[in-house]
Amino acid sequence: MPGFYRDDHQLACDGVPLAPLAADLGTPLYVYSAGTIRANYQALDAAFGAHPHAIHYAMKANSALALVRLMRGLGAAADANSAGEIDVALRAGFEPSQIVFTGVGKTRVELERAITLGVKAINAESAGELTRIDALARQLGTRARVALRINPDIDAGTHPHISTGRHENKFGVPVDEAVAIFGAAAQWPHLSLVAIHSHVGSQVTDTTPIGRAAEIAAGTARRLIAGGARLEYVDLGGGFSISYDGLPVPTPADYAARMLPPMRALGLPVVVEPGRFLIGPAGILLARVVDVKTRSGGRRFAVLDAGMTELIRPALYGAFHRIEPLQPRDAAPVLHEVVGPLCESSDVVGSDRALPPLEVDDLVAIRDTGAYGFAMASNYLRRPLPAEVLVDGGTWHVIRRRQTIDDLLALEE
Ligand code: LLP
Repeated sequence: MPGFYRDDHQLACDGVPLAPLAADLGTPLYVYSAGTIRANYQALDAAFGAHPHAIHYAMKANSALALVRLMRGLGAAADANSAGEIDVALRAGFEPSQIVFTGVGKTRVELERAITLGVKAINAESAGELTRIDALARQLGTRARVALRINPDIDAGTHPHISTGRHENKFGVPVDEAVAIFGAAAQWPHLSLVAIHSHVGSQVTDTTPIGRAAEIAAGTARRLIAGGARLEYVDLGGGFSISYDGLPVPTPADYAARMLPPMRALGLPVVVEPGRFLIGPAGILLARVVDVKTRSGGRRFAVLDAGMTELIRPALYGAFHRIEPLQPRDAAPVLHEVVGPLCESSDVVGSDRALPPLEVDDLVAIRDTGAYGFAMASNYLRRPLPAEVLVDGGTWHVIRRRQTIDDLLALEE
């Protein structure tokens, strides 16, 4: 059975029970379900149906080489956000023509690399960046393929930290400015303007702003085409949401129903850049309880061996992740403050969680942590990065070994 499920009360993943795995490999441990990744990819691909489309996996969500390779095997292309992610994409077997390169502040070195490789598009963020790309392409004796990111001034209704489509956000250029920029394309003889790019936010649980952004992108594309631009596609970014609390969220078909009509009317292929949807629910973080203490008033703290160094989303965004004991005790649930081991009060993994009383050495799973979990992990307090395991059809393998203190010190004098 693909995904995470209970087998005789024991949490398992794609045919592998997780408690013995944690005992073998230690905790904290990230575990990914290949079956879930496949199912999510296929659901998204099916939602766009016969309309020409390309799914560029947003590597920022999780760029473990084995996972990027798996995405490629499924038919995905890549969305890279740094020179490092471009290198990982190449190492995973992607052709440059399958990579779009996004980023608000690309350095000259990064741009040179992308131009030399000849990526599918550099998603440009400003007129100034276009000018720099043009100059570099001239020096390199080539023509660079670029997409221009528009800022549609839309409130995607997500957490302010991950909302990107408002006028006051730093991303992209306003629509009228974009049209004026394209009108001046003759001043950039070393650029090919191949697409319009837009991304209004992440974890967008309302499909209305997604539809509106698609309409604005299509409208902008139409104005540009009328002005002589030879656009090849429209890139509508990522943002497909997942359910962190088990309540329903829009399905890929719901998003596609909003995105596709403007694209059909325009008659251009669509590119999307999903990260969280593909990998988020396919990952869990396994942790062990290292201490339990109760305060007068009944507050029960369970201190885990994983915290904001392994998973920063709760501390940074107040994000909710389900927490489940691996082997549930047959006891009435009590409220827990599930916290990490770090010297920060914000190092809380989950507040007010009703769980059967956790005891020292219990294992817990923190759900839906495949996206922006390991990818945002840090070495704060000299904590080594956790290991990562990919489970597929009843077998597992370590796709990244646990970091050691020697690994960390190897870079230092
Ligand atoms: N494309 C662009 C241009 C983006 O900026 C992003 C995400 C994506 C695609 C992928 O979005 P997704 O499909 O995963 O929603 N660290 C935050 C999320 C930051 C997202 C940044 N941009 C979190 O943990 O929620």
